[in-house]
Formats: sequence, structure tokens, C-alpha cells
Amino acid sequence: MTIIDNQRYFTNLPRDYYLSEERYRSELDVIYAAQWLYIAHISEVPEAGDYVVRELPGLGESILIVRDEGGVLHAHYNVCRHRGFSLCSPGAGQLKRISCPYHKWTYDLNGRLLGSPSMRDGEIFDYKDFGLTPVRMEVWHGFVFINLSGAAASLSPQLDATAPEMLPLRTERLRVAHHETYDIEANWKILMENYLECYHCTSVHPEFCVPMDIQVIFEDQVALEPTSVVKAWIPLKQGMESLTMDGRKVCRVPLGDFSDGLGVPDGFGAGFMTQPAVNGFFFQSDFGIAHRVEPLSPTRCRLHNWWFVHEDAVEGRDYDRAQLIQLWDTVNRQDAVIIERQQVGVSSRGFRQGPLSAAREPGLLGGLTMYLQMMGEGD
Ligand code: FES
Ligand SMILES: [Fe+2]
Repeated sequence: MTIIDNQRYFTNLPRDYYLSEERYRSELDVIYAAQWLYIAHISEVPEAGDYVVRELPGLGESILIVRDEGGVLHAHYNVCRHRGFSLCSPGAGQLKRISCPYHKWTYDLNGRLLGSPSMRDGEIFDYKDFGLTPVRMEVWHGFVFINLSGAAASLSPQLDATAPEMLPLRTERLRVAHHETYDIEANWKILMENYLECYHCTSVHPEFCVPMDIQVIFEDQVALEPTSVVKAWIPLKQGMESLTMDGRKVCRVPLGDFSDGLGVPDGFGAGFMTQPAVNGFFFQSDFGIAHRVEPLSPTRCRLHNWWFVHEDAVEGRDYDRAQLIQLWDTVNRQDAVIIERQQVGVSSRGFRQGPLSAAREPGLLGGLTMYLQMMGEGD
């Protein structure tokens, strides 16, 4: 047995799981490509022809998200069907056609091949057989997810069932106010473990604990299961309005139905996580964030953090960007430090699997069990 579960406690993983190159390679396919990954918000591609190219460097992938003339969103591998040239450079912009710089093959925004110089349709091959390779995509209330294996269970019904508290936020109507990345010298599973518990919050995140009601988290957390989507939210203490350094709102335009007069419930928070490779969504009534964890090597990973506000909120008038990001940015930097230090420790020959608390770290049992099941190592 890889993790010990003896009723009173369970353990984390053996040392090699956090170091092995071979295991890391197989995790990319078995875990990361098999999972739903948050890739963009619809507000980043609002008009016909708008596109973003998102790089997934750990997987060696580049994904083109584009809205076609009819307003339909598509996800394509950013790879030409001729000789595999990487079509669009990383970034965002407007396209009428997708044109490969190498030999000038041209595709429409749906990914259909329109032209290949000196090779007319039907002459050597049929254009219809050589469109761009699609990436499976689902959009849930504005959040765009991709699944590279194409085999994951549909995500939207799982989110509908797990995170109904998100619905009043009307997350279709958001805007990305800020994006930050944090490169961390640690195996991605150490970051996952850290994100699945708040046992460390009082010691590592004193600022987080000003607005956050940690007792509610501990009570709620007991129910976390080894499923690919779990409910996860940050409850606020009585009298706190938002997840900020002082607990006051940071954006004057409330999200969703709260803009239309719906009262904000006491302590309101909403959100969910996907696991084992973590995407986390945490919202209060005035702003929210999304996290995505990206493996880069057996001992390196990258955390992405997007901050969202209401689509009508204007920087400088309705919110101050530095204030908006301050608390989560502080928390992310604190987590990066401890995650790197844990990697140093688990890399030691002296590391042994330790007992984890079913009351304080139950999320890890769900996340690690899910990981082992996907790797074919579960019971
Ligand atoms: S590789 Fe794209 S046109 Fe040749
Ligand atoms: Fe943390």
C-alpha cells in the first residue's frame, strides 16, 4: 500500500513519488492530460475572430482558443496539419483566417483547411480530411476548460452538482483584472497537497486568517471525496465582507445578482476545485480568483492565478489593482516558500511518510486517493 490508511490517520506519498523523472513523465499523460484544465475566460475572446494562444510548457502543448465568425468558440491544437509548424505565436489578438507562416496553408477559424499552395482541394488529398486537430473543450458559466485526452467525463454536470453557490455570481459576466504566475521549485503534488488543506493556514497565512473563518473550513472539509471535482470555498468571519487584508470589499461593483440587489449571505464564499492536478476557483461577492497548477519537471511547477471582477468594473474607479490582488498574492508567495521547503525535506533520505490528520487534512486523503486511482495504484 502506498499511503497508509489505518482509520485514525493516513499518510502522504513515499519519497520517490516527489522525485522520479519516470513517474513524472507518466503523470503528464495519466493525470494532467486526462484532467479538465482551466484555460481561459470567455471575456478574453468576446468578438468574432478574437483568439488567445495558451502555452502548457510542462506538457509541450500550445492551444489556440478562437471565436469564429458565427460566435462559436473553438479550441485547436496550435499545430499546422502540413508539417507541424506551430501556427500562432503566444499571445492574443484578432484573426480572419489562420495562416501558417511556413508554407502558407490557410484555415478558417473552425479549423477547416481552406487552401494549400500548389495543392488544390481534391487533387492530392481532400481538404476536409486535414483540418486543425480539435481539443475537447467545455465552457461552464464563462470558464473555458480543455481536456487533452478527450476521455474525461463531462465537466459541466459535475460543476452544476458541486458548486451551485457559484450561480448567483453569473461568472459569464466577468473580466480578467490581473494574471500572475509563480514558479516554484517543487513537485506539483506538494503544491496539490498544500492546496487541499488549511491546517497550515494559521501558521503560514496570518493575513488570510483575518477575514477567513477557518472553523467553518474545518467543519466543511470533512466531506471532501476522491472525485475529480470538489466543493471548496473560503467562508468569511461574521462582519467580514470580502477576502482582503482588512476584510472590506475591494471592488465597488458587486458580482452577478448581487449587483441587482440580491443580498449577500453572511460569510459568503463560493467555489470548487478540480483534482488531483489542482484548478481552484474561489469567489467572494465582489471578486474572485482562479488557480491552475502546471507541472514543469519532477521538481518544478508553476502556479497561475487569475483575478476576476465584474465586467463593468473599471480599474482606478471601482477598484485598485494592487489592493485587489494583495491578499491572494501574499498567500501565493507564502505557499511558494513553504512548498519549496517541503520539497527539500521530502527529497532527503531521512524522509518517512508521516501521519496526516483526518480532521484537519481530509482533503489530502481525497486528492491522494484520486491520484493513486488514476495512476492505477489505488486499492
Ligand atoms: S508546416 Fe504549415 S504550411 Fe507547411
Ligand atoms: Fe496555503
